Amino acid sequence: MEAIILAGGFGTRLRPLTYTRAKSLLPILNKPMITYLINMLPDKVDKVILAVNYRKKQIEDYFKKNDFGMKIIVNDEPKPLGTGGAVKFAERYITDSFFVLNSDIICSLNLDEMIKFHMKNNAVSTISLWPVDNVSEFGVADVRDDGNIIGFVEKPKPEDAPSDFINAGAYFLEPEILDYIETGRLVSMEKEIFPKIIKDTGRFFGHKFEGYWMDIGRISSYKEAHNFLLEKQGINNYQGDNCEIKGSLRKSCIGNNVHIGKNSKLESTIVYDNAIIGENVVLSGCIIGENSKIGSFSSIKNSVLGDNEKLADNSNINERIVWTQPTPEGYPDKQIGNVIEQ
Ligand code: GDD
Ligand code: MG
Repeated sequence: MEAIILAGGFGTRLRPLTYTRAKSLLPILNKPMITYLINMLPDKVDKVILAVNYRKKQIEDYFKKNDFGMKIIVNDEPKPLGTGGAVKFAERYITDSFFVLNSDIICSLNLDEMIKFHMKNNAVSTISLWPVDNVSEFGVADVRDDGNIIGFVEKPKPEDAPSDFINAGAYFLEPEILDYIETGRLVSMEKEIFPKIIKDTGRFFGHKFEGYWMDIGRISSYKEAHNFLLEKQGINNYQGDNCEIKGSLRKSCIGNNVHIGKNSKLESTIVYDNAIIGENVVLSGCIIGENSKIGSFSSIKNSVLGDNEKLADNSNINERIVWTQPTPEGYPDKQIGNVIEQ
């Protein structure tokens, strides 16, 4: 069985972290977020198609170095084709019913249960559903009690939302849905294809599940995911290899080869590999990029430092994104794709 993981897109809401790496490789407790999805796949999935474009090489390199015991195909789109276009572009690898997963979710969804639900309903398309309060940031389903979805609207205004159940970003689909997607152009699965399938077939279903679900689409949710997983695992901090930590940590996650000077205090902070943090530094609610350096006696709160950034001694920073390097070529200056209408 095949699974397509949608791992393209620039991840603009996660700037500056995504200036230097693919969104799906952003570490969560020091492991690329895409590995959480791969580990969630049922045993019957033996082929994973990674739908990629931006930072394709990084993704390819990661999977060359790390074996997950299944065939992994990196399917490079010549240009971003959107969530639907990327699925169509993987058509040649699809042999039967298949999964499609957004690469930026972490959840307790059981995909075997989802297949059972799909079969029981004789569905052509089953999507996972999760209840939220802030529906406007997501795709929202008009779902009946028996799970039949009779309407779908992507990022509606709150007053137009048909329910509190949002698309949790995991689909189980029959191959015939590929016929709904035009080849070679930017197509949104959520905006264009889902409404068409609902209208044409009436066999579009929503699978609700219990446990937890997180979308790691923005800096705030990226930080929340760390907090949640630390708590879930019942640990206070997470630490990589070869670190030298002379200060103190609270609810923080530290990568490999990180140095933290004496009397420094880190709270709810994520530090990437090879970062050097001086003495008497206070970091709270921060993300500190790879190879970055923070001078002694600095105080940084609720801020994100991109990779390779350096801050002098006595820096005082609050609620800022620190990026002093050129924006990578081709990186958009605004979000593209399924944007929230203002
Ligand atoms: N290959 C490829 N090509 N992948 C893409 C492209 C593209 O052009 N554009 C986006 N993706 C990938 C993203 O990397 C992500 O894994 C997934 O497709 C969804 O795109 P996002 O940009 O993250 O969409 P979103 O978070 O605003 O909304 C989506 O996810 C929500 C749940 O997290 C939608 O599917 C919503 O309906 C859903 O509720
Ligand atoms: Mg997303």
